[in-house]
Amino acid sequence: MSRNKNELADGTNIADLVKLDTREVQMRTLEDRELYALEQERLFGKTWLMLGHESEIPNANDFVLRYMGDDSVIVTRTKDGEVHVSLNVCPHRGMKICTTEAGNSPVHTCIYHGWAFRSNGDFLGSPIEKECMHGKMMGKEELGLRKARVTLYGGLIFATWNLEGESFDDFLGDAKWYYDLMFCRSDAGMEVAGPPQRFIVRANWKTAGEQSAADGFHTLMLHRWLGEVGNYKKEGEGSDLAEEMYGAEVSSPHGHALRCIDLARKIRRLTGKEPSELSVEEKLRILPPPGMTAETVDQLKNNLTEDQMEVLAWMPPQVGGMFPNIIFAFIYIPQPDGTVIGSMALHTYVPKGPDKLEFMNWVLVEKDTPPELKEKMVKQTLQLLGTSGMVEQDDSDTWPHMTMSAKGPQGSKSTMKYQAIYETSKPKGWPGPGIVNEGFTKDDTQWHWWLYWLELMTAEK
Ligand code: FES
Ligand code: FE
Repeated sequence: MSRNKNELADGTNIADLVKLDTREVQMRTLEDRELYALEQERLFGKTWLMLGHESEIPNANDFVLRYMGDDSVIVTRTKDGEVHVSLNVCPHRGMKICTTEAGNSPVHTCIYHGWAFRSNGDFLGSPIEKECMHGKMMGKEELGLRKARVTLYGGLIFATWNLEGESFDDFLGDAKWYYDLMFCRSDAGMEVAGPPQRFIVRANWKTAGEQSAADGFHTLMLHRWLGEVGNYKKEGEGSDLAEEMYGAEVSSPHGHALRCIDLARKIRRLTGKEPSELSVEEKLRILPPPGMTAETVDQLKNNLTEDQMEVLAWMPPQVGGMFPNIIFAFIYIPQPDGTVIGSMALHTYVPKGPDKLEFMNWVLVEKDTPPELKEKMVKQTLQLLGTSGMVEQDDSDTWPHMTMSAKGPQGSKSTMKYQAIYETSKPKGWPGPGIVNEGFTKDDTQWHWWLYWLELMTAEK
């Protein structure tokens, strides 16, 4: 008798792992090998995935190797400037074609029997041409590498195997309005400050994925030092880290999430003035978004609407995620001399089995950030958000423990709870779209993350 597609081998229905009425998720989701295999098909085989930034492959025939779920892919730039993503599996006998992490080559030749492919994945030919060693049953156009659908957003490279699925803009939905404030605000755009850092964490990718859906709550405990140490220390007004984090949370039916944090305290500290006494332009010049300067903030109006600029000067998105496995931090870090320097980092958590993930960290800068500011930003960002950064050391300590907890027979039956949800609605006068709740960061963003996970895991096709 065939099993229902949503039924696991022991008869559990996937839908029962997420209890909608009590907002609980069973810990089993964090360690189950069967679920992991289904995620590869239903989730990593369907959604848009972030693979890097186009500035990593600036020249024709540049390439980098990345992963879409468990599948290795070659990310290339062709002579016409287009970016392509091809499955790194030889159609001949399945050998991994490209084994170099990054480089430049117009042709990728399989090291097994020598079938060769162009930069865009098309089949070029095989050795011993007169013997036609690629056979005569299929035309050359059928022997190319499998190609993913690709889009660029703010220079970030996204790809999906879902060739007919929703557009990237539809995938972002209302959240795009807020992502544009970070990724699409300057004239020249962003670039990476070098190749991504990578390290392996012994944890299920969802421990990091759901945290990335704007879990600000843990900052007060796990990153408590942020309110206590060195130049991070908050004194006088704003000494309460929770109050410093006050703002608005953007949730999304697609599991995206953003934490917009009020800049009022920082502006008061820098100027001694009330934000209400200052215009949007003045506030942006006093506290430019990370990577921008008082001079370059003029570019914002070329790329954003007045409403977007208002939010950028008031409660800009600073930390958040994009479903399924991306987190970004665009944060304003106080310096010992009282000034503020921004940090911009983006991580992905690539699954490597039910209890292993690869943490990838890109440090971003605006292309026209002055060199000395770039240098400071990179140093500070690595110190905080790099693989050995002060913040990420904290985070990456929790994920393996949660994964281990889920391996115990009792632990796997325990649940994670997302019950701190109170609809508080948008801040008064908020001009942005989407599901927005004012106040301290709560569980709504992560609950939406799990709801979308469930939707994809139980979708009809
Ligand atoms: Fe690639 Fe044979 S497996 S050429
Ligand atoms: Fe954290």
